[in-house]
Amino acid sequence: MDKIIIRGGKRLSGTIPVSGAKNAALTLLPCALLTDEPLTLRNLPRLADIDGFQHLMNQFGVTTVIQGSRPEDFGRVMSLEATRITSSVAPYDLVRKMRASILVLGPMLARMGEATVSLPGGCAIGNRPIDLHLKALEALGATIELAQGYVRAIAPDGGLPGGRYSFPVVSVGATENAIMAAVLANGKSTFHNAAREPEIVDLCKLLVAMGAEIEGIGTSDLTVHGVSRLHGATYRVMSDRIEAGSYACAAAITGGEVFLKNAVAEEMEATIQALRDAGVAIEPRRDGIQVTADGPLKPVTLSTAPYPGFATDMQAQLMALLCLAKGSSVLTETIFENRYMHVPELNRMGAKIETKGRTAVVHGVDELTGAEVMATDLRASMSLVIAGLAAKGETQVHRLYHLDRGYERLEEKLALVGADIERVGDD
Ligand code: EPZ
Repeated sequence: MDKIIIRGGKRLSGTIPVSGAKNAALTLLPCALLTDEPLTLRNLPRLADIDGFQHLMNQFGVTTVIQGSRPEDFGRVMSLEATRITSSVAPYDLVRKMRASILVLGPMLARMGEATVSLPGGCAIGNRPIDLHLKALEALGATIELAQGYVRAIAPDGGLPGGRYSFPVVSVGATENAIMAAVLANGKSTFHNAAREPEIVDLCKLLVAMGAEIEGIGTSDLTVHGVSRLHGATYRVMSDRIEAGSYACAAAITGGEVFLKNAVAEEMEATIQALRDAGVAIEPRRDGIQVTADGPLKPVTLSTAPYPGFATDMQAQLMALLCLAKGSSVLTETIFENRYMHVPELNRMGAKIETKGRTAVVHGVDELTGAEVMATDLRASMSLVIAGLAAKGETQVHRLYHLDRGYERLEEKLALVGADIERVGDD
C-alpha cells in the first residue's frame, strides 16, 4: 500500500483541473445496460471505483473500450456496448469492494426482466441499507427476493408496468435505481421526494439523450414515461463538485489562490456559501471558480443536508479548514451515522474537535502539526490531506486506497499548485 508524505506550509497557487464526477460516472456507466447500442462516456475520471465498475460490466458480457488518452491527460473516454448480456448477476466478490455496484439493479431489471446483486455491506460511514431501492422497484411492479446474501429483482412477463413511489427519506442511489428501472417500463412512473443532486440531473440528461422521456428533472417530483427501447449516445460526465470543493478547502487553508478549472458554481452553491462565511473569497468565472484566501478564517455553523443543502461529502473537508478558524464552529452531520472518523486523526494533528452524537464542535487553533495519520474512508482521507497541507512539519497519510477511490491523481494536482507532496510505497 502507498502512503502520501506532505510537508506543510506551502501556499497553493495556480490552476487545478477538476475531473469528471465519480458519483455521476457511477450512475452513468450502468445506463449502458439499457440499450444494445454503444454508449460513449467522456471525461470519465481515472479512479479505482471506475475501474471496478468497468470490471463489473465486463462480468455481464458488456464490452468496454478505453479510447487512447495521453498519460498526462486527466480523464478518459470509455465506450460500452451491451449487445448481448451473458449474466445478470453481480457477484459478492465485486460488490463487496464497491457498494455502488447496487446501481446495476434497476437497469439490469429493466433490460433483462430480472437482476441478482450481492447485498452491499455497510461501510466505515454507516450501515448503508438499500431498503428504499427495493421498495421503489416494488412500486414499479418488481418482485424482490432476498436469499443467501443476494437480492433478486424480477419483473412480470412483459416487463415492469411502472407505478408511483414517494421516498420517505431522500436517497441518491435509490432515486437513481428507480429512474433507471422506470425508463423502459410499459407505463408512466412518478417519484416524489426524489433526490435532486446534480449527479441525478446528469443521469436524467444522459437518459433523455438515449431517448428516455423524463419530466421534472432537477426537482424532487419526477415523471418517467416508459419507452420501448433506448438508443446509444455520447455524453460528457459532469465536473466533480465534491473534488472541486475539496481543493477549494486546500487552497484556503494554505492562504493560497487557486483557479478550479471546469468547476461549476451553480452546482456547489452551499459549499461556496460556507466558504464565503469562513472568510474565503470565491469568484465564479466562465470556465471555473477562483478561490482566494482573504484574511483570517472565520468559524461556521451548519448542518449537512440533501441537495441543495450542504453536502455530507464536503463535511470532513470543511472541518479540516475550520480547525484554523478564529473561533468555534459547530457542524452537524444529518445524513450518515458515523461520519466523524477523521476527528481523532485531526486531533492528533493538534486540532481541538469535540463530537457528541451527530454534532462536532471545532475549536479553532493557531496551528496544526504534522503527524502520521490513517485514512479510514474517502472524504476523511481528504480532510487529513487538507490539514497536512497547512500543518507545521511532515504529515504521512497511510491507506491511500481510500483516497484513490475518489480523487484522480491527487498528488499530481496538488503538486501543480506548489504543494510539497509525494506518494511513496508504504513499507
Ligand atoms: C450517494 O450515496 C453517494 N455515493 C455518497 O457519496 C453520498 O454521501 C450520498 O449519496 C449522499 O449524498 C454515490 O453516489 C456513489 P443515499 P448513497 O442513499 O446513494 C439512507 C462519497 O463520499 N438510506 O442518498 O448510498 C442512508 O443510510 C460517497 O462520494 C436508507 O435508509 O446515499 C443515508 O442515511 C459517500 N435506505 C441516507 O439515506 C436506502 O435504501 C442517504 O443515503 C438508501 C439510503
